[in-house]
Amino acid sequence: MPRSVLVSGGCGFLGSHLVDRLLRRDDLETLVVVDNLWTGSRDNIAHVSDPRLSLRIADAETFTTSQHFDEIIHLASPASPVWYMREPARTIKANIGGALNLLSLLRPGGRFCFASTSEVYGDPLMSPQPESYRGSVDCTGPRSSYDESKRCTEALLFEEQRVSGLDVRVVRLFNTYGPRTRIDDGRAVSNFVCQALTTGILTVHGDGSQSRSWGYVDDIVDGLERFFWRDSITYRGPLNIGNNREVSVLGIAKFVCSLVQGSRIEHHAPIPQDPTNRCPDLTLARQVLPGWEATTSYEEGIRRTFEWYRRRIVTRDRSAASA
Ligand SMILES: NC(=O)c1ccc[n+]([C@@H]2O[C@H](COP(=O)([O-])OP(=O)(O)OC[C@H]3O[C@@H](n4cnc5c(N)ncnc54)[C@H](O)[C@@H]3O)[C@@H](O)[C@H]2O)c1
Repeated sequence: MPRSVLVSGGCGFLGSHLVDRLLRRDDLETLVVVDNLWTGSRDNIAHVSDPRLSLRIADAETFTTSQHFDEIIHLASPASPVWYMREPARTIKANIGGALNLLSLLRPGGRFCFASTSEVYGDPLMSPQPESYRGSVDCTGPRSSYDESKRCTEALLFEEQRVSGLDVRVVRLFNTYGPRTRIDDGRAVSNFVCQALTTGILTVHGDGSQSRSWGYVDDIVDGLERFFWRDSITYRGPLNIGNNREVSVLGIAKFVCSLVQGSRIEHHAPIPQDPTNRCPDLTLARQVLPGWEATTSYEEGIRRTFEWYRRRIVTRDRSAASA
């Protein structure tokens, strides 16, 4: 059956990779991307010439159309603390306002998919974190616009499922990196890679012992694809998606340093309430998505990401020189 799909945040890092996957689907009739280009860029989908795709520059929380959709994938929200901490009200509107508005564009019986986050676990008191862990979040802290708006949107969707049978799919994504994050995005891997390629000085906040599980984008989008559009899956979420190999921020910085001769690490003040650890318990993911695993090592994923940024920065510098 031909399907109409809307992706909010489709010009962003993850969204644009998901758009590429969606366009491989034979049952896809139309794909509408709604993005206000806050943290995303048209460049991320500029390579697509498929006539099924249309881009609407709009806020997810106010976007209107007479069309109704079989599937809505709500990704609109910055994921980088640098960006969401700068505009907390806008972050809350994107997540909760976006979900409330987009729900009204779902056709009866349609499916609503949402990218929640491992940040719902806050600064976790247990590791790895299973979906049943209720988290250790500060609802008045500097990350709360993001953490709490994700938690509230999860609440909205699971309550809609309870009272009206809404078909929802909710993932909790752990740190994901790869090509197509902005050069000024501010997340660790893209920061380190861009710093190594430009100034040669990699800034690590605190002593760098805080650990993360680093998921390469292709593996993570593969998990999303399986969970979001397989009709046979009856589990609705929340589902952890990530790589469970935990590596410290300093370990990542050292690896990036090893790729550029002469680059070095500088320690800066810690980021307020930066979680000490993050690692997904993937027991449920392995049951719900048999065969899926985040297999790309951070060494391999970072090399690929590095190559993408290197080409990008060289092209940028060449066009600046010839201007
Ligand atoms: N990348 C990760 O590590 C990660 C981890 C956990 C959760 N997530 C979630 O996945 C989603 C995508 O993350 P990403 O890494 O691609 O971030 P991103 O910042 O690259 O992409 C977000 C996109 O949403 C758009 N956007 C923001 N607010 C909007 C609004 N109100 N209306 C319309 N468009 C809006 C931005 O312009 C951008 O294109 C986010 O919801 C994020 O919270 C990502």
